[in-house]
Amino acid sequence: MRPVNLFDYEKLAQERLEPAIWDFYHGGSDDEVTLRECRRAFERIRLRPRVLVDVSTIEMRTTVLGTPVSMPILIAPTAAHGLAHAHGEVATVRAAGQSETLMIVSTTAALGIAEVAAAASGPLWFQLYTHHSLEITGKLVRQAEELGYRAIALTVDIPRLGNRERDLYNKFVLEERTPLPNYPSQDITALERHMIDTWETVDWLRATTKLPILLKGILTAEDALLAIEHKVAGIIVSNHGGRQLDGAIPSIEALPEVVEAVKGRCEVYVDGGIRRGTDILKALALGARAVLIGRPIIWGLAVDGQQGVLRVLEILRNELEMAMALAGRPNLASIDPSLLKL
Ligand SMILES: Cc1cc2nc3c(=O)[nH]c(=O)nc-3n(C[C@H](O)[C@H](O)[C@H](O)COP(=O)(O)O)c2cc1C
Repeated sequence: MRPVNLFDYEKLAQERLEPAIWDFYHGGSDDEVTLRECRRAFERIRLRPRVLVDVSTIEMRTTVLGTPVSMPILIAPTAAHGLAHAHGEVATVRAAGQSETLMIVSTTAALGIAEVAAAASGPLWFQLYTHHSLEITGKLVRQAEELGYRAIALTVDIPRLGNRERDLYNKFVLEERTPLPNYPSQDITALERHMIDTWETVDWLRATTKLPILLKGILTAEDALLAIEHKVAGIIVSNHGGRQLDGAIPSIEALPEVVEAVKGRCEVYVDGGIRRGTDILKALALGARAVLIGRPIIWGLAVDGQQGVLRVLEILRNELEMAMALAGRPNLASIDPSLLKL
């Protein structure tokens, strides 16, 4: 089967991956309510297309924190690409470069941040989990800065690892399966340092780096306002792909209150359950600057390495292009809340 859409890649990836690895990538926490709702929430949103608009050319180039990208579709940070394909994050980052978009590299990557940067032809952000020692964390942040990463996305929704029962049944322990070179000496306590992050950690990070800071994992107006007080450059509205607090609102439903609270004072991004061009159109209409794609990137990687990731990105680009045309919105500026039936 030649995959036509992202769900085809999902099926093919599941066939190819060892079941425990599939479960690790696929799974959410507890009863996976949030994981399922993330999809349903998109399906509930209705569009109000306009007609007789000249859509002969569709323009979707944009900038993210000042960096140009060819489309408002970025690669979310996800762990251990080496379990999906031998080339791991190198394959992913090459595909990102080919698509002229940006990859957010995870602290939990299977390759070191230098190795990923060396393979990159496009822009990178670094997703940070702080380590047990802030000194070590500071060194990692400075290394990212020196390597040319353009922003730090601190993930804030993981004070403890969510209850991922698929992994418990499978006795799947990530650090037993893959090297995690961005953690010093595979020290398991290193994986736990981020469990004590607070708003002081954000201030520490701001004092440590000149790079713009994004907070990933905000779902409320209250926290969005605090993030503004702590001078972040961006917020990523996310529930960690349904892997942390089960029952947490779908991120697309949290997006409007965050956008409303922020009032343009920082850029707002969203991820979780985005599988179609129309999902992206809906997120943009609700005020997202761009969206992040998590699991589908891994599906592409598992099915066909760099080519697979590239295809996943290009399918999304084509679908967004089509959705914009059919909605009578030929450029990003024309995508606004009037596109939605609320
Ligand atoms: C297998 C897997 C690993 C992840 N690893 C990380 C990570 O290391 N850091 C992080 O901030 N988010 C991580 N996430 C969350 C993603 O960045 C993103 O929020 C989520 O996957 C988006 O939802 P989607 O998979 O439905 O697109 C991970 C998600 C998955 C599925």
